[in-house]
This record gives sequence, C-alpha cells and structure tokens, in this order.
Amino acid sequence: LKKSKIIAAGKAAAEHLITNEDLSQMVDTNDEWIQSRTGIQTRRVSLQETTLDLATRASLDALHKGDIDPETLDMIIVATVTPDYFIPACASLLQHRLGLNHRPMMAFDLNAACTGLIYAIQTAEKFIATGSAKRVLVVGSETLSRIVDWTDRGTCVLFGDGAGAVILEESDQEGILADYTNSRGDAELNLAMPAFPLDNPFQQESCSMTHQKMTMAGAEIFKFATFAIRDAMEELLSRSGLTMEDIDLIIPHQANARIIAKVARQMGLPMDKFFLNLSDYGNTSSASIGLALAEAMEQGRIHKGDHVILVGFGGGLTWGGILHRF
Ligand code: ACO
Repeated sequence: LKKSKIIAAGKAAAEHLITNEDLSQMVDTNDEWIQSRTGIQTRRVSLQETTLDLATRASLDALHKGDIDPETLDMIIVATVTPDYFIPACASLLQHRLGLNHRPMMAFDLNAACTGLIYAIQTAEKFIATGSAKRVLVVGSETLSRIVDWTDRGTCVLFGDGAGAVILEESDQEGILADYTNSRGDAELNLAMPAFPLDNPFQQESCSMTHQKMTMAGAEIFKFATFAIRDAMEELLSRSGLTMEDIDLIIPHQANARIIAKVARQMGLPMDKFFLNLSDYGNTSSASIGLALAEAMEQGRIHKGDHVILVGFGGGLTWGGILHRF
C-alpha cells in the first residue's frame, strides 16, 4: 500500500466580521460570557459568498501555496454540512470552477459534521493507498450562518463561515503515520439539523419535523468532545507507536477553547501544544481543521519532520484524527 502526505493547505474566511458586541445587540449575551465560556472573540459571516465560493478560494490558496498545478489533481472530496445544493455535489461544482471538467476523476461530498475533514482525508488516503488516485484535493467548507438559529444565544455565538483545503499526494516518505475514525449514531438529537420534512401528497397527516435550524445540547456535546479528543489521540499514539513527547503540535477541531483546556489538563499537556485560532473564526465545522492547519503553516508553527495530530469531533456523533509527519 502506498503512503499519503499532505503537501499544502489553504484557507478562506467569509469577509464580514461579527464581534461579540454585535451579537449582544441581537440576543441576551455579552462579550465577557462568550469569551470566558468559549474563547471566541469574532467570527466571520458570509453576506455573498456561498459554500462553493469559500471552497474555491481555499482550494486556490492551497494550490498557490504548494505551487501545484490543478491539472495534476485526480480526485476532489468536499466535507460540508451546508452544501449550496443537495444536487449537484459541491465537489463537482468545485471541479468545474477549477477548470478540471476534462479530467477523469471522482468528485463527491461527505458529511461527518465537524469531523468531516478528518473523514475526507482518510478517504483520500485509502484511494491513494490502493493506487486509485495520486493527488487529491480535500476541502472542508461551510456557510453555517444559513443554519444557525440567530435567536438562540446558546448556539449563535459559537459558529462562523469559512473553508480549509488540503492537498494530499502519494509519497515515499511517510506522511500519515496513523489514522483513526469512529462514530456513534445514538445521540443524534444532541447536535442536529433536520433536512426537508417527509411531506408528500400520499400522507394522511403532514409531518411535524419542520424546524430547519441547528440545535445543540451544549453540555452533552462538551462532555463528548473531551472524551473524543482524548480517545482519538490515545488511539493515534498507540497505532503509530509514538508517545505524546514525540508530538510537536495538535490541531483540534476549533469548537471551544475550554474543551481544549480541559483535555490539556486531563492529559497533563501545556496549552501551547495545541494550535487554536477559534478566537478569530469561531467554530466553522468541517472547515475548522483545514483553516487552522493553513494558519499554523503560515505562522511557521510546523517544521520539517514535525509530528502533528489533527483531531476532530462533532455531530453524528463522529470523531477521529490523523497523525502526520511533515
Ligand atoms: N450568553 C449568555 N448566557 C448564555 C449564553 C450566551 N451566549 N448561552 C447560554 N447562556 C446561559 C444559559 O442560558 C444558562 O443560563 P441559566 O443558568 O440561567 O439556565 C447559563 O448561561 C449556563 O449555560 P450552559 O449551557 O450550562 O453553559 P456552558 O458553560 O455549558 O457553556 C457552551 C455553553 C459554550 C455551549 C458549552 O456547553 C459548549 O461549548 N459546549 C460544546 C459546544 C460545542 O463544542 N459544539 C460544537 C461541537 S461539534 C460541532 O462543532 C458541530
């Protein structure tokens, strides 16, 4: 089986910046509460750009930073919970935007909520491992602002719009040293966004499932998140044969700084082992890990030979991670 390596990462954030102060004009909240409970200071909300627009921008950024010719891509996966269309997939539209319609490739969307990018990277890795693809564009892109309930102070302060892209390729030197994914579908109501109600002319009664906004049981998700990050990291270490001392940086899904602080405390790790940019962007679901990886690279936080863990958790419930040597 062939190995896969991440060779570039790119990002895009919606341009309109919303402060905690702005939100306190809309719902009963304040900057002190939001910062102390979540670590979030600002988030970006899209006024014009769609999930596809953000995905395109992040992809072009990754291609540019890696000096990669898009003509060398042979597969596209987009992780998203907020596609612009159910049909066609965002990945197919992205293929067109990148001028790659003539290239034979598989392009599809994947939904694993906030673990989406991890699931997508691992899917790409498997195609590379079997020789079915050599270079894969993996994107997490979200316009969560379209599913956020802007009247619910318990959730609307948390989320933002953005995208992160990574490019993986077949490599002789090991890139991904270990991967791990998991799912537990018995807690769907802890974090949910209903699709269209089942509504057709043959029904006796119309369906009551009409609430088209995201809902979340915050405390339950908090508990799950601290378990999930630890579980994924411990699995990755055990599968790679490395120890935590070998790990140079951890890039977690950017949901809440308090979740990370708790994991750090439980595992006896310094906070600076974790890369966090959620104070600027809030939780961008599938986009957050790619967006953070791109920024960590821009800031020179990742050096050649570094061992980096990417770890995600989210609705489903889903969780998982990869351990990568750069
Ligand atoms: N401003 C002011 N007060 C608020 C706000 C707000 N924005 N939101 C809730 N409160 C109030 C509550 O109503 C409650 O008031 P009460 O005691 O009078 O009932 C009080 O603050 C405490 O509420 P809790 O929900 O217990 O607050 P908690 O400390 O748990 O923080 C939070 C809430 C931030 C949502 C936390 O539970 C959390 O981060 N959970 C995990 C969320 C998460 O990570 N989600 C995404 C992961 S998966 C994915 O990314 C899709």
